[in-house]
Amino acid sequence: MPIPIKIGAEIDAMRLAGRLASEVLDLLTPLIKPGVTTRQIDQAAHRHMVEVQQTVPATLGYAPPGYPPYPASLCTSVNEVVCHGIPDDRPLRNGDIVNVDVTVIKDGWHGDNSRMYIVGEGSIAARRLSQITYEAMWKGIVKVRPGARLGDIGHAIQTHAEAAGFSVVREFCGHGVGARFHEEPQVLHYGRPGTLDELVPGMIFTIEPMINAGRRDIKEDRRGNRPYDGWTIVTRDRSLSAQWEHSVLVTDGGYEVLTVSAGSPPPPSFAAHGFGTTLVAALPA
Ligand code: MF3
Ligand code: CO
Ligand code: CO
Repeated sequence: MPIPIKIGAEIDAMRLAGRLASEVLDLLTPLIKPGVTTRQIDQAAHRHMVEVQQTVPATLGYAPPGYPPYPASLCTSVNEVVCHGIPDDRPLRNGDIVNVDVTVIKDGWHGDNSRMYIVGEGSIAARRLSQITYEAMWKGIVKVRPGARLGDIGHAIQTHAEAAGFSVVREFCGHGVGARFHEEPQVLHYGRPGTLDELVPGMIFTIEPMINAGRRDIKEDRRGNRPYDGWTIVTRDRSLSAQWEHSVLVTDGGYEVLTVSAGSPPPPSFAAHGFGTTLVAALPA
């Protein structure tokens, strides 16, 4: 299957879906504090999507081959949970770190994004892991331009994470996003420069590195000898794991981040063009 290329009105629709996905996170931000359960966060998000935005929560009932239907309207991945954590009734506690991953469907188009939150104070180590992971996502984003390759993105992310002493999860990756939730290409968060597919204007994909404080290995969550829920992934060594995600468009001049809203954290200083490159720089032949 080829990598879908979006044009004109399709890109406008993806801009709207992306902004709405980001606005769900804006709505949730003040809720994420000690004592609040991840189920309460899910319920607030579900209501906002369905009643205010008139979007569809893409994760609710999502069942790729080999998976049971996902039972919630977002994912909440706390501490050693790497990804796909299912909201439940455990209250968040001071010092927890939590990734909240929201995907909305608007007019048939998907906007997919996630942010990390530190509950209450948070240790220096937890803050550093989240910060380095945010920077790693942006190290990947700023590589996006026509003619670059997917391996350039993965290499930039891996280099930044490993220089900080952290590790990159290999089993899950970013993905094309559009009329389908997960489509081509796969966007690995590790790799070698100059390898894999060349980027072309109109491609839209997520960049969503999962970075572990300890070793990169993961496993299905069987903590407490519970039966596996079919989704939750944890670090094998129980070290903390962080993740940030944006949906990104390849433009003629470079990139445009689609999952942006009033509450989006600012890009790091090395991302000189912020959420989008508008200049069409003439590249040497
Ligand atoms: N939003 C996740 C991603 O970034 C996918 C979640 S699928 C779910 O690709 F079923 F676990 F919700
Ligand atoms: Co995604
Ligand atoms: Co996501």
